[in-house]
Amino acid sequence: MKVEIKDLSTHVGQEVELHGWVQNKRESKTLTFVILRDGSGFCQCIFDLNVLGEEAFNEVSALGLESSLSVKGKVVADERQVGGFEIHATGFHVYQNCGEYPIAKKEHGVEFLMDHRHLWLRSKRQWAIMRVRNAVIFSIHNFFQKEGFVQMDAPIFTGNACEGTTELFETDFFGQPAYLTQSGQLYGEAMAMAMGKIYTFGPTFRAEKSKTRRHLAEFWMIEPEMAFFDIFDDMDLIEQFVRYVITDVMSRCKEELEILERDTTVLEKISNPFIRLTYDDAVAIIKGEKEVNGRKTIEVLEEDLRNTVQQIADLKADIESRETAINAGGMKKGQVNFNLNAIDKNKNTIKQLEEDERNIPQWIESAKNFTYGGDFGGSDETVLTRMFEVPVMVYDWPHEVKAFYLKRNPDNPKLARGVDLLAPEGYGEVVGGGERETNEQMLIEKINEHGLPMEAFEWYLDLRRFGSVPHAGFGLGLERMVAWICHLPHVRETIPFPRMYGRIEP
Ligand code: 4AD
Ligand code: MG
Repeated sequence: MKVEIKDLSTHVGQEVELHGWVQNKRESKTLTFVILRDGSGFCQCIFDLNVLGEEAFNEVSALGLESSLSVKGKVVADERQVGGFEIHATGFHVYQNCGEYPIAKKEHGVEFLMDHRHLWLRSKRQWAIMRVRNAVIFSIHNFFQKEGFVQMDAPIFTGNACEGTTELFETDFFGQPAYLTQSGQLYGEAMAMAMGKIYTFGPTFRAEKSKTRRHLAEFWMIEPEMAFFDIFDDMDLIEQFVRYVITDVMSRCKEELEILERDTTVLEKISNPFIRLTYDDAVAIIKGEKEVNGRKTIEVLEEDLRNTVQQIADLKADIESRETAINAGGMKKGQVNFNLNAIDKNKNTIKQLEEDERNIPQWIESAKNFTYGGDFGGSDETVLTRMFEVPVMVYDWPHEVKAFYLKRNPDNPKLARGVDLLAPEGYGEVVGGGERETNEQMLIEKINEHGLPMEAFEWYLDLRRFGSVPHAGFGLGLERMVAWICHLPHVRETIPFPRMYGRIEP
C-alpha cells in the first residue's frame, strides 16, 4: 500500500510502500540504513543482505545521496528513530541513482547554498522553515476569516508610489511606465470602504539597494484595512493577530521548531500584554533618559557585552579541553564524534557571540547619539526591544519620517498616527501601520510635499470625498515574521526563491 511517512503511525506491523529520496545513508557489511525523505517526513529504512540477496543489496548500497526510490517493507515502531518508526525493507525500486550530490557536505558557505537554492530546499532545516512558513500563512487566513474579514487582492502593476518614490521598480505597461506595487494599502482602503474589513495577501516589491538581514526586493505582505477603526483599535488588532498566529504556529509546528533548535520560551511570552509606547517615550528609553524597571539601556547593554565576552571565553576553554582529550587518544569512536559535534556547535555559537561583541558597542553609540525626530534604525529597534520581553508597539511618530497617508494626532499635528510593531531578539519591525488621513486638504498637501503626481491619486482622494470615515490598517511582512518565529539570522531562508539586492537566481 502506498503511504506517506507522516501516516506511518496508523500502519504499524503492516507492509507499506514509501516513495522518496535518500537523505542520508550508512552501511555495514550486511545492513544498509537509508534515511528516506518523502516531503511529509523522514524515516529510516533498513536493507538487509540476508533478506534482499546480494544483487539487490549491492544496488541499494551504491545509491548516492538524493537518489530517488520506492521502498516496500514492514513498519516497525522504534522511539529512538527519526519520526518514531522504521521500515524493514523487503523490496525497492530505484527511479534514479544519482551521482555525487553537489551540496552534501556540511561546511558549504551560505553563498554556495544560495546558488543551489533549488537543491538546498531539500535539506531538513529548509524543509522545517518552509513548513513553518506554510503554517504561518494558514494561521493568518484563519485569523482574518474567523474575524469576518474578506480577502481581496490588490493589483501588482500600479501607477503610483505608496511607500516613497526611491524604492520603485519601474516596468513597461503597454508603452506606459508602471511600477511593481510596494504595498496594496491604497487599494485596500478603497476595498474597505466597500466591504468594511478586508485584507490583502500578495507579493510586494521594494527597489531598496540594501543588503541587510531584513530586506528582500520581493516579499509577501498581509495588509488588513478596517473602516471605523482608529489607531488604538488598530493596535488592539495587531496585538490580537500576532498573538494568535504565533500561538497557533507554535502548537502546530513543534517538530519543525525542534529541528530548527528554536528556544520557544521567548515566543511563549506572547500571551502577555504587548508594550505600547509613544515615539517620544521610546526615544527617551533608547537614549537612556528614561528607565524601564529601574534600568537604563546603556547599562543593560554594557552588562550584555561583559556577559558575551565571558561566554566566548568559557566556550573557547570548553573546546580546548575537548580537543586535548581527543588528542590524548584512547577515546572510543562514538565519543570522539560526540566531542567533535560539541566542538562544532560551540564554534557556531562563538561566531554568533562574536558578532554581538562587535555590534553591542555600536548599538551603545547609536543609542547615545540618537537624535529626536529621526526614524529608528535596526540598532535602535534592537536596543529598545532589549528592555522588554514582549513585542513593543511604537506609535505617534514625527510626521516627516512616515508615509504621506497617515493621519495627524489631533492634539499634536507634528505627530502622525503610525504604529510599528517591533519584535524582540533583534528582529525589529515586523508590522507597520496606522490610522489614515481623512482630511482631503491635508492629503493634497502631503502628496505635493512628497513630490508625488497628483493625477495618480485622484481616485484615492475620491475616497475622502464620498462617504469618508475614520479607518486604519497595517502591513505584516511575512518573511520577517517567519524569520522571527524560526529564529533565523536572515530573511533569505524564509522564502523559497529569494529576490534581493544582488540576487535574482536561481
Ligand atoms: O512599513 P511598511 O513599509 O508599511 C507599508 O507598506 C504599509 N502600506 C502597510 C499598511 O499599513 N498597510 O511595510 C510593512 C511591513 C514591514 O513592517 C516589514 O515587516 C515588511 O512589510 N517589509 C519588508 N520585508 C522584507 N523586505 C523588505 N524590503 C520590506 N519592507 C517592508
Ligand atoms: Mg515601516
